[in-house]
Amino acid sequence: MARTALVTGASSGIGREIARELDSRGFRVILTARREDRLRELADELLDSRVIVCDLSREDECQRLHEEVKGEKVTVLVNNAGFGKLGDFDKIPLEDELRMIDTNVTAVHILTKLFLQDFKAADRGYILNVASSAGLMPGGPLMATYYATKAYVTSLTSAIHEELKMAGSRVKISALCPGPVDTEFNSVANAQFGVKSISAEYCAKRAVEGMFAGKMIIVPEKTLAFVTKAAHIPPRRLILAATGKLQSDKKV
Ligand SMILES: NC(=O)c1ccc[n+]([C@@H]2O[C@H](COP(=O)([O-])OP(=O)(O)OC[C@H]3O[C@@H](n4cnc5c(N)ncnc54)[C@H](OP(=O)(O)O)[C@@H]3O)[C@@H](O)[C@H]2O)c1
Repeated sequence: MARTALVTGASSGIGREIARELDSRGFRVILTARREDRLRELADELLDSRVIVCDLSREDECQRLHEEVKGEKVTVLVNNAGFGKLGDFDKIPLEDELRMIDTNVTAVHILTKLFLQDFKAADRGYILNVASSAGLMPGGPLMATYYATKAYVTSLTSAIHEELKMAGSRVKISALCPGPVDTEFNSVANAQFGVKSISAEYCAKRAVEGMFAGKMIIVPEKTLAFVTKAAHIPPRRLILAATGKLQSDKKV
């Protein structure tokens, strides 16, 4: 029987490429997102897949997704669905931010817990939480809520990674922390990148390699890995000012 992976946010960008990468490695891939036509298009191209349409900003939908795949013996969970919004904190509509927190934080939290319980019971499985290099920074002026959601994902994932290590578990969990990736992220965030981006395909390959290697934090770009490590050395306020400048350049 083929091994099975569940990928959230598979209708576009990084999630779609991770689904393709897992398919090329012989996985049956369960694809989920809100846009069914996009998911079906991808499913037609993959060897063995299933489509589940789901709005992960709703807690009941996260629970339903877990229930629906109960019989599938999922051994890989990729929590990838997410989005950002660029703008001054006081100007971004509250409802957009609450939906962001529900999608980027609450859904990742719920699915990580439910699948980790299953994986620990079976003593096998991999969880890849798609955070961002934003999650390794002290904060992100003009994308304050987005950076905060990704800091949550990075912190949660790192702590669980250590818990699993302490317990000698065979279950692995990783946080993917890329810089700019060429996807639909910008059109949703109403932004443009001020620095060079990598392709979603390259990002997905490094992500899947890192996940199976059991890495805690996966930074696909070598230069960025250095920058994110160095970001912990200078005073916090200097990094915040530099990040604020970078974010201003993103204004469309
Ligand atoms: N692109 C970058 O520069 C970058 C860098 C670092 C991290 N990331 C992270 O990478 C992840 C993927 O983003 P991307 O860059 O690939 O952007 P993208 O092309 O816009 O893809 C986002 C995916 O998330 C899904 N999604 C959004 N809201 C959802 C909801 N409520 N329920 C279910 N699915 C939902 C979208 O599907 P539907 O719209 O069909 O629901 C889509 O498949 C995100 O977590 C993002 O924060 C991106």
